[in-house]
Amino acid sequence: MSLLQVKDLNIEFHDHIIPETVVYDFDLEIDQGEIVGLVGESGSGKSMSAMAIAGLLSRHDMTKRGSIIFDGTDMLNCSRDKLRSIQGDTLSVVFQEPMTSLDPLKKIGYQVGESMMLHRPDISPEDRKKRVIEVMSHVDLDEPEKLYDMYPHELSGGMRQRVMIAAAMAITPKLLIADEPTTALDVTIQAEVIELLKHINRKHNTSILFISHDLSLVRSLCDRVLVMQQGRIVESGSTKQVFEHPAMEYTKKLISSIPKVEIDDTDC
Ligand SMILES: Nc1ncnc2c1ncn2[C@@H]1O[C@H](COP(=O)(O)OP(=O)(O)OP(=O)(O)O)[C@@H](O)[C@H]1O
Ligand SMILES: [Mg+2]
Repeated sequence: MSLLQVKDLNIEFHDHIIPETVVYDFDLEIDQGEIVGLVGESGSGKSMSAMAIAGLLSRHDMTKRGSIIFDGTDMLNCSRDKLRSIQGDTLSVVFQEPMTSLDPLKKIGYQVGESMMLHRPDISPEDRKKRVIEVMSHVDLDEPEKLYDMYPHELSGGMRQRVMIAAAMAITPKLLIADEPTTALDVTIQAEVIELLKHINRKHNTSILFISHDLSLVRSLCDRVLVMQQGRIVESGSTKQVFEHPAMEYTKKLISSIPKVEIDDTDC
């Protein structure tokens, strides 16, 4: 069985007079170790779908229908406690803007170790610190011992994004959802974050759902791609197939908007 199976997911908001469906009949399977890209114009429903999968859409003014089975758990019908035990343990999420995801008042080391503290109370504080420093060095953060006692505002944007990835990877999840993790970063650092995600995937066999507007990054990172338009998946297939032989006019347009730069295809 796949690590993640999403079937007929529909998400509807009720905070207006007329209910608004923002995701229709969304289907997705991800196997352990697979990297899947989710692309589509702004407002097409990528983040809503991803947040539903991560169990982060708990508002009372919305309905979620369909099924999301992650690692054997029914994510739409399980208890809050069960969801919390999965979040930050077997499933982690990295968002676009690390400054809003990191707490400005807490030290970096504490934040990277937070999910370990919650999910692995058996690990002693000393061992946790060791593991946090190790995981920070794995994401190429220099002088992790020094960073451990620093605050988010003392770090650059690229460093903060690495800290977020370190925090998401601290207890090696089975699935990492990365929603535009590189958008706020400059091009060189974007490429480094992509290399880091590839490395994490190879080393730990972590599955990744990668959401991005940057199709050249999707092409270099992902095994498969789903294309969303107005709340629906309109095309899906292997990265090679979707990029080389797009079926939909919409996908062709998205692809043709990629700036013409050298693309490293070696890992496709
Ligand atoms: N509270 C809400 N009530 C109604 N519709 C909402 C609400 N919040 C978000 N939406 C709508 O849900 C749709 C999907 O939004 P979503 O954030 O998933 O898009 P996205 O594909 O991630 O876009 P982007 O690429 O800009 O991040 C959008 O049309 C948005 O307007
Ligand atoms: Mg989004």
